[in-house]
This record gives sequence, structure tokens and C-alpha cells, in this order.
Amino acid sequence: MIERMTNTKQQVRKFYDQIGWMQAGDGLYQNARYEDLRSISRDYIHKCHLRVSRHLAPTGKFLLDGGSGPVQWPEYLTYSEGYRYRLCADISITALKEARKKLGERGLYIVADIAHLPMKSDVFDGAVSLHAIHHLPLSEHRRAYQEFQRVLKVERTAVIVNGWHEPLLMRMAEPFIQVGRLLSGRGLKRKKDWSTEDDQAGTFVEKMTPRWLKKELKNTVNYTVHPWRSLSPRFMRWFVRPQVGGAAFLKVIFWLEEHFPWFFGKHGQYPMIVIRKVASRD
Ligand SMILES: C[S@@+](CC[C@H](N)C(=O)[O-])C[C@H]1O[C@@H](n2cnc3c(N)ncnc32)[C@H](O)[C@@H]1O
Repeated sequence: MIERMTNTKQQVRKFYDQIGWMQAGDGLYQNARYEDLRSISRDYIHKCHLRVSRHLAPTGKFLLDGGSGPVQWPEYLTYSEGYRYRLCADISITALKEARKKLGERGLYIVADIAHLPMKSDVFDGAVSLHAIHHLPLSEHRRAYQEFQRVLKVERTAVIVNGWHEPLLMRMAEPFIQVGRLLSGRGLKRKKDWSTEDDQAGTFVEKMTPRWLKKELKNTVNYTVHPWRSLSPRFMRWFVRPQVGGAAFLKVIFWLEEHFPWFFGKHGQYPMIVIRKVASRD
């Protein structure tokens, strides 16, 4: 069991060291190919990225970035603007070398596993982790959430972004995507391959459902769920078309996410799990 976990992590590390964080030109990494990079989607994606800061303490000494990668999008830099140091923890050395180019002396860099953080408890004023926990086997997800909570100071927050496993909105869209594939001569895609078509799945990924998370974290992690971004890159590439009101459609979706956070946090593709550390009663 332990050997299998180690192999999985080695496989993930190798992927990011040798492929994911290789430069692909235009300042982008290979990993960016999983994102919808079209100009029509830029504004929506930008606003979703900025949602993270709303839940973080604006200032502090240390912000932890668990599975930081190279801090690849400009918006990510804003999370630590009010902090003295951003501590990037990643299993990929290539990721950390690239992160250093962005953060320089404002960054601290350690090769570490987010399921076994090598820091003392109660030291961080804030923490973020985007699209990293899903690279752990499901059996280690709870431990990673607990670790983020452990290293936070009391009353401080951690913002974790991950993808749900087959969320309702994406399931509803899938039959239309399959019809689109047939009409464009691409053939049907098997259900097990839906999310791997262009989601962040170049290597090992295991995602959870809201129900599973609730059961796993019950009585151990104090968290709330908010929408980060409801639409997957796959959904956006199929349905957001410049010629047919794509920009207006994305504005409506963003408005809906803002006004119905409970629904979109639970049923959209990417939730933001906000952990608030409370003082222990003993
Ligand atoms: C999909 S990338 C996301 C990077 C960045 N957070 C972002 O949103 O662009 C996942 C990152 O998590 C790192 N990672 C995967 N498993 C990890 C683990 N167990 N501990 C620490 N980092 C891990 C990978 O090396 C990679 O840099």
C-alpha cells in the first residue's frame, strides 16, 4: 500500500519535472494546454482566479502555497501581495525553480509532500493549494486537508481549489458534447475518458464528490464550499463560442455563481474549499 503511494507520487513528480513544467513558448508551460486559453474565456477565468483572495487574510508573514507549481498565472501572484514570504511546497523541483523566477526573494521553496507537511503547527497566516490534492490517492486527501488546517494559525484560512468528480453541471452537458463529437466526426468518447480529454489529467488524478468530502472531513476539518469556477475547459471549448454569444454566456454564468454560491460550489466543476482554523476547546 505504502509502496503504491510512493510509486504514484514518483510518477506525478516525473510528469511535472519532465513534461508539465517544461516551457512551451509564449511564457506558457506544457501544463497550460489543459486550460482554455482563448481570448473569449480570459475575462471569466481571470475573475475566477481572483476569487481566492476574498477568503484569505490580506496580510501576514507567511503564506503557504501547497503544490505551487511555478505559480503559473499572473493572478496567483496577487494572493501573497500582502505577505512577507510565500512558501512554495511542491514535489517537483522544476516547479520550484520556475516559481523562484516569479517570486525571487519573496519566496521560500521546499520539496515537500502536501500530505506530510514538514512544518510546525500554527505558523501560517494563510494557505492556498490549487489543483494539487487531486494528485494524491483518495486515501490521502483527508490527511492533506488536515495538514493545511494544522499548519494554519488560529482564525486564519486556507483556500483549496480542486475538481469534483463528475459534477452535476458537467454531467448534464455531456450528452450535448457527445452529439457534437458525432456531428464533427470524432466519434463517441467512453464515459471513463470524459474528464481526461482536456482536464488536468496528464498523470495520476483522483477526484472526490461533495458527499465523499463531507464524510471524510466530518468532525476533523472546519470548512465551507464556494464556487471557484463552474465550467471545465472541456465544457468551455464546446459551448463558449465567440459567434454565438459566448462572452455574454460567461458573464451570466459568473453572475449566477456569485448569486447562488451554494449551488455552483456543489455542482460546478471546481469548488473552493475554505478551511478556517478554530481554537481547540481543550
Ligand atoms: C496541476 S499542478 C497545479 C500547480 C499550481 N497550483 C496551479 O494551480 O497552477 C499540480 C502541482 O502539484 C504538485 N504536486 C502533486 N502532488 C504533490 C504532493 N503530494 N505534494 C506536493 N506537491 C504535489 C505537482 O508537482 C504540480 O506542481
